[in-house]
Amino acid sequence: MSVSAKVAELQACLNGGSIKATKSQLKKLGKLEDEGLISPLTELLNHSNDDIRELTVKNLGKFSSRHDLFHIFQRVITEDSSSTVRREAVSSIGRQRNEKNISYLKELLKDHDPVVVMQAIRGLLVFKQQKDVVEALLELKNHVSETVRRVINIEMRDKSGENIAKGIHMSSPDYMKNTIVHGDALETLGKIKEEAFHLTFTSPPYYNARDYSIYKSYDEYLNFLKQIFAEVHRITKEGRFLIVNTSPVIMKRFARNHSSTRYPIPFDLHPILTKMGWEFIDDIVWAKPEASVKNRNGGFQQRKKPLMYKPNSRTEMVMVYRKKTHRLLDWNIKQYPKEIVEESLVQGAFESSNLWEIAPEFDRVHSAVFPKKLCDEVVKFYSMKGDLLFDPFGGSGTFGLAARRAGRSFFLTEINQEYFNRMKEVFHKKTITGGDAEREVRFVKLEDFNTKKSR
Ligand SMILES: C[S@@+](CC[C@H](N)C(=O)[O-])C[C@H]1O[C@@H](n2cnc3c(N)ncnc32)[C@H](O)[C@@H]1O
Repeated sequence: MSVSAKVAELQACLNGGSIKATKSQLKKLGKLEDEGLISPLTELLNHSNDDIRELTVKNLGKFSSRHDLFHIFQRVITEDSSSTVRREAVSSIGRQRNEKNISYLKELLKDHDPVVVMQAIRGLLVFKQQKDVVEALLELKNHVSETVRRVINIEMRDKSGENIAKGIHMSSPDYMKNTIVHGDALETLGKIKEEAFHLTFTSPPYYNARDYSIYKSYDEYLNFLKQIFAEVHRITKEGRFLIVNTSPVIMKRFARNHSSTRYPIPFDLHPILTKMGWEFIDDIVWAKPEASVKNRNGGFQQRKKPLMYKPNSRTEMVMVYRKKTHRLLDWNIKQYPKEIVEESLVQGAFESSNLWEIAPEFDRVHSAVFPKKLCDEVVKFYSMKGDLLFDPFGGSGTFGLAARRAGRSFFLTEINQEYFNRMKEVFHKKTITGGDAEREVRFVKLEDFNTKKSR
């Protein structure tokens, strides 16, 4: 059939041709190259019949990429109500195999319709050699749709059955690096993609023992920590570590004829963490010089009455957990090139026991900061150069500074305005260089921390 005959037939379809005749017409259009056909076909995209619109998109998809019909397909995807028609438009974009379409196809991975997501995956698999494409596809590993999960699991494995994550395990999103968010940790975590972090080290609020956090009850406090660490589990990379610094806290007595209450936070938190998929690895004890801690045995000292004994608390717990996996630590290390492993090797003498004797440090603004040395030890023993490290309860930013000193990146959240401001001061004061450490520190309000926008 000549081009002008094809155009005439399509015009007849537009001028009230029957559904059956229009469909048959669209099916026999054959190869398409002539520009004159684009306009009547585009008009058919407004037809009320889904099949006709689908066949129309299919025909438009036959035009070679030099006609650049991207915007027509994009409009169909945005405006059409039919899942099949939208899928066909995504397929047409995919068939163009044009690198320029990658970012749009990545956007479609977030579509509400799994059919569209699957088609976008097909389009992206063509570019499977590109790191950003692999990253975007791997983000779908825990997609709500089981079909999408299955496809990703199959497509993203290499011949040995291992995830093709080599290089992916060590990478993390640039827009998160050296970023400090002013806002609630839980809300911020809700905006973060799966498996973004290599290590979390944190010291949560001490229940109500300090002014900076108030919970209605101990149960509410533990429940809050449960939610935080479930989110941290989600955003931690396979087989990587969570290290939590806590200690029992004391609530002052109500009056002299009442006793004080001691809350065993580390012991209550432990079963919560293991139940949600954190494997217990080590119990490190941070010991402070006795002279630096509060004296509790004054009363006992005088009379030495049994039962009245109250030891001074020189220790805090530094509990080490690993995101549960069947893989050995060796697998984690193998995800890095030899040079990174070499550069990350722990130099010089090291603490060989689980008793870490470190003096506490004080800050003029924040009342409970990590000592630098504690952070430095955690960074060097539990992360690799270039890793992304997280502290949901950033405080004065001590852990972020340690990460930066050691050539790692960091992401912190802090709810308190005064402490957030303090971080602005400390980060701008210290100029530490080397690799990723040189990246600008970004201070963002929670409302402005939008992972979609930042990408
Ligand atoms: C024990 S301090 C951490 C101090 C920190 N390790 C440092 O070296 O400065 C706990 C911090 O958690 C912050 N915080 C409490 N609730 C929070 C929440 N929901 N989201 C983010 N930060 C919170 C407090 O303001 C406090 O600064």
